[in-house]
Amino acid sequence: MKGIVLAGGAGTRLYPLTIAVSKQLLPVYDKPMIYYPISVLMLAGIREILIITTPEDQHLFKKLLGDGKTFGCELQYEVQHEPNGLAEAFIIGEKFIGKDKVALILGDNIFYGNGLSKLLQSKTDINGGAIFAYPVRDPERFGVVTFDENHKATSIVEKPKNPASNYAVPGLYFYDNVVIEIAKSIAPSARGEKEITAINQAYLSKGTLDVVVMSRGMSWFDTGTVDALDDATEFIRVLQRNQSTMISCLEEIAYKMSWISYEALKESAHRYGKGNYASYIKTL
Ligand code: DAU
Repeated sequence: MKGIVLAGGAGTRLYPLTIAVSKQLLPVYDKPMIYYPISVLMLAGIREILIITTPEDQHLFKKLLGDGKTFGCELQYEVQHEPNGLAEAFIIGEKFIGKDKVALILGDNIFYGNGLSKLLQSKTDINGGAIFAYPVRDPERFGVVTFDENHKATSIVEKPKNPASNYAVPGLYFYDNVVIEIAKSIAPSARGEKEITAINQAYLSKGTLDVVVMSRGMSWFDTGTVDALDDATEFIRVLQRNQSTMISCLEEIAYKMSWISYEALKESAHRYGKGNYASYIKTL
């Protein structure tokens, strides 16, 4: 399975923070935001990753992440010229995906919790699609999924004014190769975007969509607003200060997956200079 991080978009809800810099490069406590979604794909066992950015910011992502070898991945880059919707990722990424299956994660989504790696790894050989559902207080901000009494998904609606459930669909999606054809076939919504929700509706109507409710032990943040960004920062800060482990240290994940050597790990500690991130790598 290949992976895509969608890190374009205008980020207007975070202005003035994102006038000069892409949202996904902003700090979430001690790392650039994009480290978190990349770590999620890595925990799923995905090493071939496409980073989709705006044309203006691509060079900054390349400066930060390079070809990904230092954390055991192979990164490629593409641009999205206009924010035409999340589903466009599969059209932009068509060549990169080839005949494989693909996971998409939004560059502003953060996941953390017990059993996350296992859950992700169980979806990488999917036939059809697999998405998640997470109970939230403000479902009208998200794609919303409803279930019948047998816990089977019955509908998915994008940002409903009157949500029929409080289950939001987080920005992490696993699909088989059919997703490319579906993405091409869907029409833009009233707001002019090719919606990821339309893709999920297509799989749902074919009866091939697996919707997994994330348990209480899982934390999910969409950092699309100033308060949500601040909450995510606080969450990472508090957890990292209480525990001796770091969340989303890419080199640690790569090392534990045996994707990089001990020597390479030591070199990256050196490259990160004198801060906490470097010190943490040294403790490994
Ligand atoms: O976070 C989960 C939600 O993400 C889902 O519940 C919704 O179903 C889904 O539509 C999406 O809603 P958002 O309103 O959060 O999407 P937003 O427009 O904020 O875009 C999410 C990220 O994707 C953001 O980091 C910017 C980036 N993006 C967005 C668009 C529309 C792109 O890179 N290209 C785009 O064309």
